[in-house]
Amino acid sequence: MSTRVILLGPPGAGKGTQAQLLAKQLGVVHISTGAMLRDAVAAKSPLGLMAAKVMQAGQLVADDLMVELVQQRVAQDDCAQGFILDGFPRTLVQAQALAAAGVEIDVVIELALDDEVIVQRISGRLVHLASGRTYHRQFAPPKDEGRDDVTGEALVQREDDQEATIRARLQVYHQQTAPLIAHYNDLAQAAAGCICYIRVDASQSVEAVQAALLQRLQAS
Ligand code: AP5
Repeated sequence: MSTRVILLGPPGAGKGTQAQLLAKQLGVVHISTGAMLRDAVAAKSPLGLMAAKVMQAGQLVADDLMVELVQQRVAQDDCAQGFILDGFPRTLVQAQALAAAGVEIDVVIELALDDEVIVQRISGRLVHLASGRTYHRQFAPPKDEGRDDVTGEALVQREDDQEATIRARLQVYHQQTAPLIAHYNDLAQAAAGCICYIRVDASQSVEAVQAALLQRLQAS
């Protein structure tokens, strides 16, 4: 059976952390549009050169580019068993384009978290850029300070994780992405049984959020 999941929530709510765990549990592909864009920036591709400034400012990359990127990705063979979309859709236009392209979704998971906790979480985040593995100085420290647990390579702070940029990203989230909460709730009610909407309190520990998610998924 295929499981197609949208993971929705503000920056720093733990989407990437939970998506990595859930992808392993469900045996599906984790698709992070943020990670795809960071790869493009690192490769200095035309998309990356264009996206770099937009991301540093905490703004959103153009809808048409993002829709094309995701449509191509979910059409690949490894997505046949399902996927977790982490960071997409981020606007109503993206959500409508996904539906218009015939990409079906089974579950929408919302990770809910207050803005002040978000700033604390993101400002302590460290990432291993090559793998996307994520750590936190206080809440999820690596075994060796500043080093990836698996490769031993250096961890870095993301360019868009400065406090001023975090606040800009939060504003963008509330204006452009939060309307998707009502959008998918309405869809879940209208198409009872086709799309399941799950809201989880993301202020708990990583393990507690994961357990709550799995429990709600099994019950859905
Ligand atoms: P993206 O990479 O998607 O960033 P985001 O949505 O802002 O989310 P984050 O990656 O910051 O946070 P997260 O929710 O994944 O949290 P994480 O698990 O890392 O996008 C970056 C940029 O790309 C955007 O700003 C935009 O410019 C562009 N972009 C991407 N997609 C786009 C789209 N569709 N359209 C247009 N533009 C797009 O956790 C955060 C920290 O908290 C970590 O340190 C982690 O260790 C820690 N943590 C996680 N869970 C817990 C917990 N339960 N308790 C304590 N600490 C925790």
